[in-house]
Amino acid sequence: MTAQINSNHQSRASLVLGIESSCDETAAAIVRRNADGSGTILANQVLSQDAEHAPFGGVVPEIAARAHVTHLDGIIERAMETAGVGYADLDGVAATAGPGLIGGVIVGLMTAKSIAQAKQLPFIAVNHLEGHALTVGLTDNIAAPFLLLLVSGGHTQLLMVSDVGVYKRLGTTIDDAVGEAFDKTAKLLNLGFPGGPAVERCARAGDAEAFALPRPLLGQDNCNFSFSGLKTAVRRAFEQTERTDDRLRADICASFQAAVCECLRDRAGRAMTLTAEQLPADSDPVFVIAGGVAANETLRTAFEQLCSERGFRLLCPPRELCTDNAAMIAWAGAERLHRGMCDTLDVAPRARWPLDPLAEPVGGAGVKA
Ligand code: KG4
Ligand code: ZN
Repeated sequence: MTAQINSNHQSRASLVLGIESSCDETAAAIVRRNADGSGTILANQVLSQDAEHAPFGGVVPEIAARAHVTHLDGIIERAMETAGVGYADLDGVAATAGPGLIGGVIVGLMTAKSIAQAKQLPFIAVNHLEGHALTVGLTDNIAAPFLLLLVSGGHTQLLMVSDVGVYKRLGTTIDDAVGEAFDKTAKLLNLGFPGGPAVERCARAGDAEAFALPRPLLGQDNCNFSFSGLKTAVRRAFEQTERTDDRLRADICASFQAAVCECLRDRAGRAMTLTAEQLPADSDPVFVIAGGVAANETLRTAFEQLCSERGFRLLCPPRELCTDNAAMIAWAGAERLHRGMCDTLDVAPRARWPLDPLAEPVGGAGVKA
């Protein structure tokens, strides 16, 4: 797991259009993979559907799919204009083929296939999770191997990333994803949508020790997570207290965030221990946090401490590249294109698509992949 500058694949530069539509962001980006293996973002357009979903307090799949149909063509056009490129300049077209809300995935995937067919370009079907996983290659020019904590609205996993397309899952959630726990906490406290940033904002004025919330699976001899008990404890704390002031919400958010961070740190520490033998003696091991929840400042600080204690170098993409975007899809597409890992146009959209299909299934009702 030695950090490597991504210079072992000298070649000519390539330009890829990426499309992301697996949840509630309609996004298109143009990314160049330079000859030395580094990446450059030429355009990164993200149209959030927050306003459409806010009245419902969560993402409504049907509304999301329709919004992607309405906006995707315009977003692609704007990305091409911003980058100052035409279709003839592209070397490939990449789109998220899953996992995600199937209606939205179909919209992006069909659009990318149509462009690839019409312009006779290579087509790359990208796993959305791989997009998150490889973002540090684009932002920090770092290649695998590295340890990864992937924290998003649908997934919470610890993975060993050995190469593009080669992932070993070390642990996953046995029930809710951590982003889901943030979103449900925000909904309970009436903080608005999207939930994660709202909880983070509210927590700033709170006392993280005001409520003694549980730390599920802490200290266990594996790398799994559980957040559904924590979610129930938050509800109980809110319903049972006599307090009604604004400070109450802040205290709950801060206590919730502290509990989440402690769980994630503990499980990540376990993964570091379990993979220690795989580290060469002169290693510069890298730990990456990616996915929407990685935008959380308290989490980033907690992991800075953990990584400095354990001798890891922490890498975390800038906040706007932690949450869903198409630059990460274009980059994963460029990495695959470079390795000749292109797809045919009969690739099917997938609601579920694990990065490590060989991983043992874990018990629990809410496991997504
Ligand atoms: O990766 P992402 O944008 O979409 C998925 O692939 O799911 O992650 C979305 C999740 C949501 O649950 C959202 O509430 C959470 O990431 N999130 C945050 C923050 N920003 C987004 N959670 C905590 N703190 C944040 N600042
Ligand atoms: Zn995501």
